[in-house]
Amino acid sequence: MNWNIGIIGFGRMGKAIATGLINKGISSSSIIVYDKEPLALQYAKTLGLRIASSNIEVAFQSNIVVLAVKPNDVIRVANELSSIAEDRIIISIAALVSYKTIKNHLSKSHVYRAMPNIAVEVNSGFIALTPHGERDSDVEKLFQYLGDVVWVDEETLDMLTLISASTPALLAEIADTFILAALKSGIPYAIAKRAISSLFKGVGELLNIKSLSDIRDSVITPRGVTIRLVEKFYTYDVKSKLLEALSHSIEEYLSILNETRDKYK
Ligand SMILES: NC(=O)c1ccc[n+]([C@@H]2O[C@H](COP(=O)([O-])OP(=O)(O)OC[C@H]3O[C@@H](n4cnc5c(N)ncnc54)[C@H](OP(=O)(O)O)[C@@H]3O)[C@@H](O)[C@H]2O)c1
Repeated sequence: MNWNIGIIGFGRMGKAIATGLINKGISSSSIIVYDKEPLALQYAKTLGLRIASSNIEVAFQSNIVVLAVKPNDVIRVANELSSIAEDRIIISIAALVSYKTIKNHLSKSHVYRAMPNIAVEVNSGFIALTPHGERDSDVEKLFQYLGDVVWVDEETLDMLTLISASTPALLAEIADTFILAALKSGIPYAIAKRAISSLFKGVGELLNIKSLSDIRDSVITPRGVTIRLVEKFYTYDVKSKLLEALSHSIEEYLSILNETRDKYK
């Protein structure tokens, strides 16, 4: 496919997606963006992207459009595009707004939902997609530039919104806790941050080839330092507290999801 990529909404995710695509060699001149915030467009210019003067122009100049606006703005933008988006692929990355709702407003377009996370900026995102037919492979190719792609049903995509899209914020908190501990032990901040970053990346890679218990068992030695560290995790009930916090978040999120079903139509 000849990529003419449109991005509507050039906030945090719009920028991350454009940066990830450029990192992989997609020409910045094949990406056109619009945002109602002039400062966002100024930044887009520095990346060499084409700047449209409206959302309609983005759709007009592209064959694949990513809607990267907040859930509250998705329907408004979809309505704007409805007259022009015929035959185009329109991918919403918005949380909470269902495929059916967006498709109702863009009946002539190939509508998709994607749920990426912020790591698309460094081409290490995890991207859930829902399949909808003949343009699936084009959508997959686009997101493969940005990370690991998985096809799921919409219910799973909605849960991955919490488990994958929101979780970088939580992992940043956890990384921060480790860095504070490293500082307390006397390790300088820059080294601590590098160590934690490398740990997240390295253990993530190991998880692709080993089980969790294999990783743990290959670090622990009898009566060693690591077993004491792991023991504290249980003594202080960290695992069950974390699981409890996550379970509460899931319940809260599910009720928000139910409430918004009627709100976004
Ligand atoms: N952030 C994440 O990690 C993440 C991960 C996965 C999915 N998402 C989804 O991605 C979407 C964007 O999130 P974000 O964090 O990037 O939000 P954001 O930083 O607020 O970016 C959204 C941008 O869209 C602009 N905008 C609003 N209405 C518009 C319109 N009618 N036409 C053109 N531009 C418009 C906003 O301008 P104003 O600020 O002036 O309104 C803002 O610059 C959301 O739906 C979210 O659910 C986010």
